[in-house]
Amino acid sequence: MTKANWLFLTLLLAAAPVTRGASTITVSVAHPGVPVSSHLYGIFLEEINHAVDGGIYAELVRNRAFNEGGANLTYWNAVGGAALSSDPSQHYGKLTRSLKMQTSGGSRAGVSNGGFWGMKLNHGTTYTATVWAKAADGFQGPLNLTLESADGTVLAQATIDGVSADWRKYVRLLTVNNPQGSTADNSVVLTTTSPGTVWLQLVSLFPPTWKARANGLRIDIADALAALRPTTMRFPGGSFVQGWDLVYSPWRWKTTLGELTDRPGHPGLWGYFSSDGMGLHDYLQMAEDLGVESILCVYSGKSTGTDIVPEGSFDAVVQDALDAIEYANGDPKTTVWGAQRAADGHYPPFHLKYVEFGNEDGLSDPLKTYTAYRLPMFLAAIRPRYPDIQVISSVGGLPATMRPDLIDDHLYATTSNMLQSARTYDSRDRSGPQYLVGEYAALDFGNSAEPQRKNTLGGAIGEAGFMTGLERNSDLIWSALYAPLLVNDANQAWTPDLIWFNAGQVVLTPNYYVQRLFSTQIGDVALPATLADAAGLYASATLETAARTVYLKVVNNNADPRSVTIALDGAAGLSDVAAEAVLTSGDRSDQNTFAAPAAVTPALVMFSDVSPSFSHTFPGNSVTVLTLTGVTTALAPRSAFGRIEAESYDTAASLAVAPCSENGLDIVSTVPGSSATYESVDFGVGAIAMQARAMSDGGSAIEIRLDSADGKLAGTCLVPKTAAWTTSSCPVSGVSGVHDVYLMFTESLRLNWVQFLAAPVFAAANVTNGASFRRGIVPGSIATIFGVGLSSVNGIARAGLPLPRQLAGTTVTVNGIAAPLFAVANVNGAEQINLQVPFEIAGQATAQIVVTSGGVASQPVQVDVWPAQPGVFTSDGFTGAILHGTTYAAVTAANPVAKGEVVLIYATGLGDVSNPPATGATADAARTVVPAEVTIGGTPALVSYSGLAPGFAGLYQLNVTVPADAPSGVASVVVTARGAFSELVGIALR
Ligand code: AHR
Repeated sequence: MTKANWLFLTLLLAAAPVTRGASTITVSVAHPGVPVSSHLYGIFLEEINHAVDGGIYAELVRNRAFNEGGANLTYWNAVGGAALSSDPSQHYGKLTRSLKMQTSGGSRAGVSNGGFWGMKLNHGTTYTATVWAKAADGFQGPLNLTLESADGTVLAQATIDGVSADWRKYVRLLTVNNPQGSTADNSVVLTTTSPGTVWLQLVSLFPPTWKARANGLRIDIADALAALRPTTMRFPGGSFVQGWDLVYSPWRWKTTLGELTDRPGHPGLWGYFSSDGMGLHDYLQMAEDLGVESILCVYSGKSTGTDIVPEGSFDAVVQDALDAIEYANGDPKTTVWGAQRAADGHYPPFHLKYVEFGNEDGLSDPLKTYTAYRLPMFLAAIRPRYPDIQVISSVGGLPATMRPDLIDDHLYATTSNMLQSARTYDSRDRSGPQYLVGEYAALDFGNSAEPQRKNTLGGAIGEAGFMTGLERNSDLIWSALYAPLLVNDANQAWTPDLIWFNAGQVVLTPNYYVQRLFSTQIGDVALPATLADAAGLYASATLETAARTVYLKVVNNNADPRSVTIALDGAAGLSDVAAEAVLTSGDRSDQNTFAAPAAVTPALVMFSDVSPSFSHTFPGNSVTVLTLTGVTTALAPRSAFGRIEAESYDTAASLAVAPCSENGLDIVSTVPGSSATYESVDFGVGAIAMQARAMSDGGSAIEIRLDSADGKLAGTCLVPKTAAWTTSSCPVSGVSGVHDVYLMFTESLRLNWVQFLAAPVFAAANVTNGASFRRGIVPGSIATIFGVGLSSVNGIARAGLPLPRQLAGTTVTVNGIAAPLFAVANVNGAEQINLQVPFEIAGQATAQIVVTSGGVASQPVQVDVWPAQPGVFTSDGFTGAILHGTTYAAVTAANPVAKGEVVLIYATGLGDVSNPPATGATADAARTVVPAEVTIGGTPALVSYSGLAPGFAGLYQLNVTVPADAPSGVASVVVTARGAFSELVGIALR
């Protein structure tokens, strides 16, 4: 929140007249609605608007392989009189033409490239340049590789020697050592002062990338996406997959793999050439790094026009799609494309689960070929081969016989139509497949002076209103994705877009903030929200069960503020203080721009006096999320031994209910056969006893019968008739899950309370793994289980004791394999167990975590398993994280390491996931670690030992001899394991 925003909001709330006051939003906390899809909010990355090339794909050189624009050498400029031409006779890999550079010598001459509408270089940052070159006989070299500012100041430089008659790849690290470099107006320049002929095949320059991936992503844009905490990612189109014809323009994933010199690129749909540097592998890797489910949109044999592959030739289209799935998931040892994936640097499968067949195939398909043969042929081929893949149809309204798993629905509408669409799914048929809302956006047309489609607050309000309907209907809506995601300011093929950027800056739109407010503040179950006298207001509520938090989203599409009574029906235990995040601005046409990027951003404020019925004011033109904590329902058990108080009962005349001085309510049954109802009683893994506290007027014992609506629950409790309140215990068996319970009074009885003694409850909703549990676990990593009900685990109950004794009697298994336990704790009432995920589960798609205490096992919790990634290597800082020699003194600039000395490098994730070590195994170099290659200052270094670091779970150690010919100063250390590069780490060398 900017200071200005905060001030604006404060003034707005304090001073603005509230024009109406009778609106009510009633949230039914006691009667939760549908479960919220755990994949509700995702992203859709399409190569449109230079979203990828010149966008999130971090390559800084435009037309790096000289294949864009035919023979024109577009975006390349001659320097110092060099003669440049495009040469189709000299080429390397799958590229078809190179740049021929002829110089006469004596003075500097060569080529330069200014990037995609600029090239941002940062002072102090190291860039990785790759140059493929060869020379005609007689060229003496060298080539000078420089990074230069607009006025010709050299910001960084390197030399390429020994260019010969054979194509060779030269990699150079260039560190910008001039503050003038922190601009976006720079170039990469290759020159020579020697006479001769040089051919260049590929000239590439990468900044440090997101998650330090080779061929990776621009950090500021990827960070903005990660901050949305998306759960799915659809790619790479959209129409981009289809192309405008059947030959040149469709996305052919097989030509997007491997070395960059093996990617010829293709003319993309959206008016510019696609380098395909971001290929299928790279999209899958990005999804994995974001921790989201990939939704791979495969080619379905149709252009965006009317060109369609005929039925007789359609087998090839189907096979190509199946091959793509094999590439993502196939066994590297037994499948062709699985082996290719492993060779490309990802040995374990990507665990692709969702494939969309085509994009908007219902458009311009008059003969209905999608339902006539294209989708049926695909379904017939994929179902037997990949029964677990969820198939998404790009067309809805299919014949009943054709049953994909999901339907992709797209919605681009004016703001007012978007708001009306908030009700679209309320009445949608539930008997068919679920929906992916694969593209949606409000097309807000700004004002009359600026009638273009804009990313305005007004549009964002329209989307927020629509999204309240998605949450309310998230039994039907599996996932929803704003579109398009990204736009380079210089190439606005389609507006509006979620994130704008140029070479150096990222602008987050009001629409982005709506996505972020919604996706980061959402529970696991929808709570019905009813609005009364609420014209222009839209609302949805969800409950995050484990956190006992209600997120209430309220959209005020009125220009004036609205005072609303918020009734939380059935809520108890509410914290008095709550948070509200509010997105608003002075005018609904307000936007964020490069000059004023934070004009419309959410403000976060706290407010008090929250109660089950309270009044709150929502500013005009606003989107608000209220976070209400501490919520319990009157009926929900508060712990494994929670009391269920008789606050919900039928109102039969035969029952009288009165407050009871001793405890809770006093139900008096006067007529035998009357009943009381307890709603939504959660028995967890099974109640083991029922206790009732009762009193009656004498006579013999009487019976309380338990019956569940589904007839599965059976239990009786014999309650002795006693003059004083007496507690009776009765076993109840065969019960689990949530039931309504009916108590049958067979005789007149005063009943004070009933409780069910349950086995320790570790329901899935109550067990989370810190921030990332939704995204699964990684073999070897430390996972944290938080939960309620864990306090009944024997070990945790003794939290003051030494660790082994605290943990006595508690075990955690992951897929039946005992996991080492590290710590127990009680953090603000949330109990916690830390465990190490066993290495042995590597290769599994999912794992089940079970906590056992005193012989009672929790409900299994199903989680995704993420492969341990090679080469994930981090340090604490630029230097100092690398320890060396026998003294283990940190290597720092003041204490540089000597050449020939052995340094110890610690890393995580270097485990060989195809041959994992036993959990807790001691160091075993041969068996446990992918042979890692290490370079120091670009020079290969001898690895004398690699294995598990003794005494550290999940931590690997490499002993590396510093090469004698490594340059002195600060040198970069790079660990490569199975083709994946580590993050760069600096090391000081003598
Ligand atoms: O999101 C922009 C385009 O809109 C997509 O490429 C296409 O699927 C839709 O028509």
